[in-house]
Amino acid sequence: MVQLTLPKNSRIEEGKTWPKPEGATNLREFRVYRWQEEGTDNPKVDTYYIDLDDCGPMILDGLLYIKNKIDPTLAFRRSCREGICGSCAMNMNGLNGLACTTGMDEVEGAVTIYPLPHMPVIRDLIPDLTNFYAQLREIEPWLKTDTPQPQKEWRQSHYDREKLDGLYECILCACCSTSCPSYWWNGDRYLGPAALLQAHRWIVDSRDEKTGERLDALEDPFRLYRCHTIMNCANACPKGLNPAKAIAEIKALMVERRV
Ligand code: SF4
Ligand code: SF4
Ligand code: FES
Repeated sequence: MVQLTLPKNSRIEEGKTWPKPEGATNLREFRVYRWQEEGTDNPKVDTYYIDLDDCGPMILDGLLYIKNKIDPTLAFRRSCREGICGSCAMNMNGLNGLACTTGMDEVEGAVTIYPLPHMPVIRDLIPDLTNFYAQLREIEPWLKTDTPQPQKEWRQSHYDREKLDGLYECILCACCSTSCPSYWWNGDRYLGPAALLQAHRWIVDSRDEKTGERLDALEDPFRLYRCHTIMNCANACPKGLNPAKAIAEIKALMVERRV
């Protein structure tokens, strides 16, 4: 697995070491990135100790333990706690993933947590995903047709429906795009693996009637062609999806329509 770099504002200093929980003997060390816009301090890494006898097994459980029992000022996103909403994506011991589906026993030594790499940070473990969502909107992720709306439903064969497997399951967690070196350097112009996986999902949908327009919108040296098949995206995806393959298939369709 490829280890990822630190977030953009990387002048990180040693922060506070919080007291160990009283009477606890089964401890796990957490080192957590802390930063907030107010004030001018550099980012810090605070050290906390979790009582494993009083805490669930996942990394998100550890963060909730910290927030509820040690330091209520720690900020992070979470919602479903079962790998569905994508909001708890973060960088844990150098790898992007979901804190709610990553066990503390899956990482060695101190659990070291940073926000998703190379994104502006709003506060602590919360990245600013404004650009990420804007890029998703750009690929127009909805069914587009000329045919008038059918009375009941848009129909699709089982065969055509199966073409969406491996695409529709994306939870938009951004683990892939923020692990992609091309996206780190060109995130303003390269759409990145998450948006391109979604683009492919609509390009191959048999019910959509704007395939040509969708491909035209991607025919650009930056929006699509910054993918260099480094494959970090596929390694990072917590849902086991392969954005690099989807991108390669879009490129193949571009070639196909030229011949
Ligand atoms: S395969 Fe493409 S999209 Fe995936 S990490 Fe590499 S450059 Fe980025
Ligand atoms: S492709 Fe995977 S890593 Fe990327 S946004 Fe979707 S679920 Fe997350
Ligand atoms: S809390 Fe929803 S995916 Fe982790």
